[in-house]
Amino acid sequence: MFDLRELIQKVSQVKDKLELQNIKSQFLGKNSQINQEFKKLGSLNEKDRKIRASSLNNEKQKITEAINNKFKELENLEINQKLQKNKVDVTLPGRERPNGKIHPVSQVIDEISSIFSEIGFSVAEGPDVESEYNNFTALNTPEDHPARDMHDTFYLDKNKKILLRTHTSPVQIRTMLSGKAPFKIIVPGRTYRCDSDQTHAPMFHQLEGLHIDKDLTMGHLKGCLDYFVKEFFEVNKIKMRFRPSHFPFTEPSAEVDIGYRLENGRIIFGEGDKWLEILGCGMVHPNVLKNAKVDPKKFQGYAFGMGIDRLAMLKYGINDLRSFFEADFRWLNYFGFDPLDVPTNYRGLSR
Ligand code: DAH
Repeated sequence: MFDLRELIQKVSQVKDKLELQNIKSQFLGKNSQINQEFKKLGSLNEKDRKIRASSLNNEKQKITEAINNKFKELENLEINQKLQKNKVDVTLPGRERPNGKIHPVSQVIDEISSIFSEIGFSVAEGPDVESEYNNFTALNTPEDHPARDMHDTFYLDKNKKILLRTHTSPVQIRTMLSGKAPFKIIVPGRTYRCDSDQTHAPMFHQLEGLHIDKDLTMGHLKGCLDYFVKEFFEVNKIKMRFRPSHFPFTEPSAEVDIGYRLENGRIIFGEGDKWLEILGCGMVHPNVLKNAKVDPKKFQGYAFGMGIDRLAMLKYGINDLRSFFEADFRWLNYFGFDPLDVPTNYRGLSR
């Protein structure tokens, strides 16, 4: 027979759980010596069997206890070692701020969304690839309408049925067709025209606004735009002028200019006698409402559209529109915004 004291001694010296597992199967497993001894019990007479069985059980219990205790001990040791290793060093310096910057166009979209959300507008979206119907026909611009030529459209098929949207206005149609009046949305998004110079890029950004409800007037449109322009340029007063204009999808239509003066090459808004056009707007044409399944006798409202890139250039003093799309890291580092500085109306919109 094996020596119990020797075995217990051996167990106490074990260093890891695997080794302990091996010892366990060696001394308690099916082929272990103690098991063989149990098998021999049958050949003993009753009296001897009782004595032998009790001593074997006693031994087995001692071995099991020794192994289980060692197992717990090893487990505790392992946990303590892990805790030691994962200790947080609170004296370490903080991580560096991220290197990336938010592009001025993204920043301005966030600013504009924040401003309009304050007065109940929500943000809607539509695809860049549009149908000719949503981009023109439904917006009261039939095939022979001269306004179509002015848009320098990128068509995507021979039949001119699919195109890259030339403005964000088709999202007016999509929104009205997929919901029920009233509507109060803004649509920031990419738009495309076949045009490129210092102030035009083939891909640019527009912001559309649409507010449809009962009893809306041109007065609501003026109030809304007055609020927006003041908030956006962060000034208390603004000079604004509505010039009569024409868009097929609004009647009456207007273009809006804001007054400014130059001071050492910088634009100061709200004073001066120069005018800068910033957007087009008007009361939504009844034909547009009909095409979008809205009853013009019950509902009417206003719409507006503006160029986001131009607004960003004006606000942040950027001269060349093309620099927006050059992905020059030095430029982005200079004009970009801190990613953790999300613009909101209460905290301030820009730096
Ligand atoms: N979609 C027009 C454009 O790209 C801008 C515009 C003008 C949008 C008047 C409107 C609007 O919603 O009412 O030139």
